[in-house]
Amino acid sequence: KPNLLTDRFGRHLSYLRVSVTDRCNLNCLYCRRWDFSEYFPSSEILSYEEMLRLIHIGAGLGITKIRITGGEPFVRKDACSFIDRVAAFDGISDISVTTNGLLLGRYLDRLRQAGIRRLNISLDSLKREKYRLITGRDVFHTVWDNIMAALDAGFDPVKVNVVVMREVNDDEISRFADLTFRFPLHIRFIEYMPSCKYHLDSYRQMFTPEIRERVEANGALIPIETADSSNIAHRFKYHGAKGEIGFISPMSSHFCAACNRLRLTADGMLRPCLLSDRFVNIKTPMRNGLTDREIEGLFHLAVLYKPRSSGINQACGARLPELMSAIGG
Ligand code: GTP
Ligand code: 5AD
Repeated sequence: KPNLLTDRFGRHLSYLRVSVTDRCNLNCLYCRRWDFSEYFPSSEILSYEEMLRLIHIGAGLGITKIRITGGEPFVRKDACSFIDRVAAFDGISDISVTTNGLLLGRYLDRLRQAGIRRLNISLDSLKREKYRLITGRDVFHTVWDNIMAALDAGFDPVKVNVVVMREVNDDEISRFADLTFRFPLHIRFIEYMPSCKYHLDSYRQMFTPEIRERVEANGALIPIETADSSNIAHRFKYHGAKGEIGFISPMSSHFCAACNRLRLTADGMLRPCLLSDRFVNIKTPMRNGLTDREIEGLFHLAVLYKPRSSGINQACGARLPELMSAIGG
């Protein structure tokens, strides 16, 4: 198909991450906002109709995988109806949600009915007080109960994202890994990426080799082969475990060569790379009446801006240009 989204380096982009809101009901250490007036005014946020139109156009260009993100997606009113409608599109074979899990309980049945099978849930501590320190809210138990409820409701896999921070939660690496003996969870340890805004001190960063050593102190890791080369986690399991352990290493070994991602931000920008500040404003021209065909052209333009590599790594000092909540984690 000549019309596919292929970038200058031959990568075919088939995965669109859609941020439905930049707002969040938590305020985590590594993504902390001090000034809530920085949220986009609602007139700047794409309507669900606008997002659906763009997803539809994207599907025609070979997008097959959609991830709904935020901010926290479920703080936007009717996020679930929106997800229902995305799930109903032909051509989208894989749709999933990344959430902090706080409001998830009430939507689990609906998400299952919509055909959502996979969930990614952020959880940086297993201790109530520590969770409160990291996120600013004393809601650990609600999130934990919702993770358990997601397993009971049959979501598979339920991935748990743990951003590792030295002397914040690194003492819990082994407990997180141990969870995979008891539950079929996919525990994924993520290297913290510094951002230009309010980032943590660099000594808090911890890289995969060190994290992995702690995990292996509990038992040997058996590698799991993945067919999908764009999967960014290196996957393992302990012998006899129900769940899996993954390492996501954007700092120590970036995964740009196989990157198939494009992002649509809540304020209507198409961003070809999490770490590049080049993007295409698709909202304004769309609101000025572009045809679908013309909008396709903007998708292709955004794809041309995709850099070969994000440039972030342990040594270089590059940073996320914004908070993740603004880009769509
Ligand atoms: P699946 O593979 O579909 O489960 O999703 P995912 O792992 O891509 O999604 P998730 O939203 O759970 O993100 C996991 C971690 O990967 C987060 O810390 C993200 O910030 C990071 N991440 C996601 N996309 C990118 C990217 O394009 N570049 C970089 N460097 N990191 C990313
Ligand atoms: N570095 C690494 N991971 C991050 N996340 C948010 N900000 C960062 C960062 N600076 C994680 C969230 C969520 C996922 C989408 O991204 O914890 O699990």
